[in-house]
Amino acid sequence: MLEPHYHIIPRLLGDEIAFGAGGVLMVDADLREAARVEQIKHALSELQAVNEKLFIVQKHLHHMVAQAYALGATSVVRCGREIVPKLAQIEAAARASHDGSSSITPEMANYAKGFASMFSAIQRGKPINLSDAENVTSQIIANIAQDGLTAWLDSVRRYHEGTFQHCLLVTGVAVGFALETKFAELDVKRLGVAATLHDVGKAQIPLSILDKPGRLDPSEDKIMKRHPVIGYELLKDIPGISPEVLDGVRHHHEYLDGSGYPDGLPAGQITDLVRLLTISDIFAALIESRPYRPSMSRQDAYKILCDMEGKLELPLVRAFRKVALAA
Ligand SMILES: [Fe+2]
Ligand SMILES: [Fe+2]
Repeated sequence: MLEPHYHIIPRLLGDEIAFGAGGVLMVDADLREAARVEQIKHALSELQAVNEKLFIVQKHLHHMVAQAYALGATSVVRCGREIVPKLAQIEAAARASHDGSSSITPEMANYAKGFASMFSAIQRGKPINLSDAENVTSQIIANIAQDGLTAWLDSVRRYHEGTFQHCLLVTGVAVGFALETKFAELDVKRLGVAATLHDVGKAQIPLSILDKPGRLDPSEDKIMKRHPVIGYELLKDIPGISPEVLDGVRHHHEYLDGSGYPDGLPAGQITDLVRLLTISDIFAALIESRPYRPSMSRQDAYKILCDMEGKLELPLVRAFRKVALAA
């Protein structure tokens, strides 16, 4: 299928694997087996120079996708048919990076790994490590303070997929907003952590629903809408978690007119942090890049926010303008 266009060097786990930095490392293993996972970890620790790691996760094992990212995957496919288009995408991104636009950095790979570890821990029934979430948030804050939001959004959209891409975008947008509005350091961090964790409940939503290309049918939608409560339940007993963060996780889909979920809160019970998080979440979801549709421009996404009068706080949306449209 891949030859002669690609030069393939097959290796078995346990073999010595020499690898140049320029290629794509493809990993095809059953990630349910702890021994395999250990072998892959070991092999990858010696292959740090390889930028592109494509994991093939069999369709029926789709809950292993987070495990693959936690091991350092930069892309995941679920069947043989997806390999060729994915390689073409990786090649196109590599060409773009030769043209001078930025390529994936080790830091960026690390952020994705941080998110992947959280999701994979949840799927294995393990508790979320709050300090991991705090660390990844601090790094994202430092990155955006230094390089700006646009660079962040561009590299995240180029390199990450699905739910991780969404969480990285929401955190970036929320942090960009907080920095622009000159929040106190502690508040930037609090909003950032709330954004990092806002969708952790999605770790328990089936991927067939999470990654469904088209519209969800009513029963799927009902399952999807459980994620804020699932996230809240996963986090509420963790020592040291702040009430604001819990509030953000549970209520980021509430609207000021009471039409949101899960609690249908009225405006008076929706805090400022939650209002900011909701705006960041909607904006990030609109500009996401998905395999089946091009991403919306930041201008168009901002217009949609402006049209949500009654649901979002307009003075905040106005304050968001600079963040949304900054070049
Ligand atoms: Fe959400
Ligand atoms: Fe979200």
